[in-house]
Amino acid sequence: MPYYLELPDFINSFITIPQGADSESIMFSGYPMIADAGHSPKSVDIKDFVSDEGLLWFANKGIILPQWRATLFKCIRNHTGTIHTDEHTREFAINFIIYGHGEMQWVDLDVPPDDFIEDQSSHFRWSNSRVGNINPLAKWSGTAGKAALVNINIPHRIVTTTADRICLSLRATKPTKFEQAAKLLNLL
Ligand SMILES: [Fe+2]
Repeated sequence: MPYYLELPDFINSFITIPQGADSESIMFSGYPMIADAGHSPKSVDIKDFVSDEGLLWFANKGIILPQWRATLFKCIRNHTGTIHTDEHTREFAINFIIYGHGEMQWVDLDVPPDDFIEDQSSHFRWSNSRVGNINPLAKWSGTAGKAALVNINIPHRIVTTTADRICLSLRATKPTKFEQAAKLLNLL
């Protein structure tokens, strides 16, 4: 099973960046990022970022995207994010890079995670100081205007270099498996 599958370019026409988006300050109208450090999430209303046409297109494929399972992740430049896994209840996210660029890297680890966070999106984390230099199993070099179906259950991290990266990450209520989603999207 692949770690990620890029989505066709036309899918980006579904993204509607809110009025007032300022690519320099990364302050979206009504959605100030919670912190300008590290890799910060901000829950948003999917309707502010994805057109009705886009939501319908996914629904017609059998991919159900609820209103409040959309998150903006901002990763500042020159940052190596913490290795983690996301929600255990679903294997994939649909990620749109809406500003800048950065790499999503999947890694192979032989050390147990430092912590397990039990909340509505249970996940594991490994601190950077414990894992040292590692060779990624796979990398997705996402740049603004690109989108991909990504596996979020295999340990991964975001690494940026010269630019901040803002990713809109959509989580589906149905299906939950990466392979199912890939088939529904005609990517496999
Ligand atoms: Fe993640």
